[in-house]
Amino acid sequence: MPQPLDLPQGFRWGVSTAAYQIEGAVDEDGRGPSIWDTFAARPGAVRDGHTGAVACDHYHRYREDVALMKGLGLDGYRFSIAWPRIQPTGAGPANPAGLAFYDRLVDGLLEAGITPLPTLFHWDLPQALEDGGGWLARDTAYRFAEYTALVADRLGDRVPAWITLNEPFVHMVYGYAMGIHAPGRALMLDALPAAHHQLLGHGLAAAVLRERGLDVMIANNLTPVRPASSSEADQAAATAYDALHNRLFTDPILLGHYPDLSAFGVGPDLGGSVRDGDLKLIAATPLDGLGVNYYNPTRIATPTDPGLPFAEAPIEGVPRTAFDWPVVPDGLRELLTGLRDRYGAALPPVTITENGCSVADEPGPDGTVSDPDRIAYLAGHLDALAAAVAEGVDVRGYFTWSLLDNFEWAEGYHQRFGLVHVDFETQRRTPKASYGWYRDLIRAHRALQER
Ligand code: FCB
Repeated sequence: MPQPLDLPQGFRWGVSTAAYQIEGAVDEDGRGPSIWDTFAARPGAVRDGHTGAVACDHYHRYREDVALMKGLGLDGYRFSIAWPRIQPTGAGPANPAGLAFYDRLVDGLLEAGITPLPTLFHWDLPQALEDGGGWLARDTAYRFAEYTALVADRLGDRVPAWITLNEPFVHMVYGYAMGIHAPGRALMLDALPAAHHQLLGHGLAAAVLRERGLDVMIANNLTPVRPASSSEADQAAATAYDALHNRLFTDPILLGHYPDLSAFGVGPDLGGSVRDGDLKLIAATPLDGLGVNYYNPTRIATPTDPGLPFAEAPIEGVPRTAFDWPVVPDGLRELLTGLRDRYGAALPPVTITENGCSVADEPGPDGTVSDPDRIAYLAGHLDALAAAVAEGVDVRGYFTWSLLDNFEWAEGYHQRFGLVHVDFETQRRTPKASYGWYRDLIRAHRALQER
């Protein structure tokens, strides 16, 4: 039986997923193509040519998946809404069948006692918007606000809090700078307008949500940055990387200005994309909560590539996930206390909106899936979270990534992050040992808090 931790009253337990990674049904009920459909069809883009065309078939099996969530006793479910289901071409009136799917999902969640926490953009941009420049085009930010209004008007009576963007850092770097995610552009630093336009989209959408009395969050991928040595050069490299990865998408929202990117040769106008009034708009709607997606710390050394002011250095001597990501639970405590120290009173309450690990899980001869490495990962990170709370950080919830094994972007179906195993041939769901562990942990907390 997992031991309950000392967490604040009302602490919320959840799981997270994203539309393109689980829904499938990409051609159904009027959904338009997204950049991920296009990218996954490109030979060599995704490992073994996998695509999200079927994924976990959640679009048809969502009732079964909500029942799995109910079995966990969750407080909340973070999922994303596929923009191309709502606006197949990224503009114009809502597609009624697209809205109806999320309407059914929200009602199913509420019936199961689970609060829906939707993300409006988790990387599946309508292809038609990409054809007009994607997030490199300022117009996409305005389209995002219109889409937000359509969805909020339909679901806002039952959905109290909303996440605008998922990991704009990863979307910009993988999608626009390096080309390893959709839309597959390799623009290096010329990708920076995609940062500003996503943030502008956040600001515009946040105003739309707030006008309707709804709570606003963003889910940022954050990492504690550790210099590889105490040399001045490594420390300067770490400062530069921290500005790009952590500050670029958080400072404008919480502080109303961009961090110093001069180490990259970039001025405060981010490649000419910032206009008068933009930063005011980005910061105008205070966040009700900061979503933090944490997987691992980052170790940074002096550059090896003349085009960049940093190089990533390996973290040695720690366990690694199937994805080869280092497992450093205390990095979460370090990150959370670091955020508190950096932003002080400007830091809103934090919710961990993603944290988890991939393991090469397969059912054993008796059909059960034993995943002790995942249980150890989750337990270690929750200890670190509780340590940060004990040090005074206001953390309100923990949403693990993920409910189901799913389409892990460029890795296809090769990385299994779920509490529930999915056989992608038969769509059979098998709760892993970690599912039972998480359910028991949630129960133990509830029992403690109700005493
Ligand atoms: C995060 C993404 C999420 C998932 C996890 C493993 O960067 O937000 O969709 O792929 O990584």
